[in-house]
Amino acid sequence: MLLGVNIDHVATLRNARGGIDPDPLLASKICEQNGATSITTHLREDRRHIKDNDVAIISKEISTRLNLEMAVTTEMGEIALKINPHSVCLVPEKRQEVTTEGGLNVAGQLNKIINFITPLKEAGIVVSLFIDPCEEQVIASAKTGAEFIELHTGKYSLAYGSLDEEKEFNNLLHASKIAQHYGLKVNAGHGLNYQNVHRMHEIPNLYELNIGHSIISRAIFSGLDNAVKEMYELVK
Ligand code: PXP
Repeated sequence: MLLGVNIDHVATLRNARGGIDPDPLLASKICEQNGATSITTHLREDRRHIKDNDVAIISKEISTRLNLEMAVTTEMGEIALKINPHSVCLVPEKRQEVTTEGGLNVAGQLNKIINFITPLKEAGIVVSLFIDPCEEQVIASAKTGAEFIELHTGKYSLAYGSLDEEKEFNNLLHASKIAQHYGLKVNAGHGLNYQNVHRMHEIPNLYELNIGHSIISRAIFSGLDNAVKEMYELVK
């Protein structure tokens, strides 16, 4: 299993002062040097953390893969075609949310998603859909022609250690099995941390985990290199 690191949180801290520190590009390089196989940036409509210039620079300077998370909007489609990242991960976006709260409703907008991803695929960009672990969304995702889904692990992460853990974990397991049956490759992420990540190994053939908040939080105390190394060892 591979580890992708979401470095948006570094940009959030930088933007708090409006200066240049901490630098998301330097963070990306440290992540790569310590085991990350991809760097995720979520270019939000309101640009509250990562900004256009960050994405442009990171896409040129990193040596692993850039995974551009974005909403299904005309503006973001155009930016993706210009930046040409290795992959895009399509997410729902609400202005007021603190983080991506739920998965993309693929089943409810199947034609829109198909039309949106067609030019991206034609440009050679790998497309992933961030969805909740539910059968309806998995089957709809398979119909879009996307190569990957990313299963939203938020509910599992929140339920970890509680009576609901097993139910939420089984939803992920079941969704992943169905997805692979339909030929989709499966990533997962959201809310994963140093305690709860170990159960991802019980889900066969997960390709990559995308993790941000817990790694950047730990980095404050132990340094980004150690925080990434430690998560890399757990994921590996
Ligand atoms: N995957 C997706 C699609 C996300 O939106 C996020 C959060 O930005 C993550 C993974 C990483 O989540 P976390 O920061 O909780 O590790």
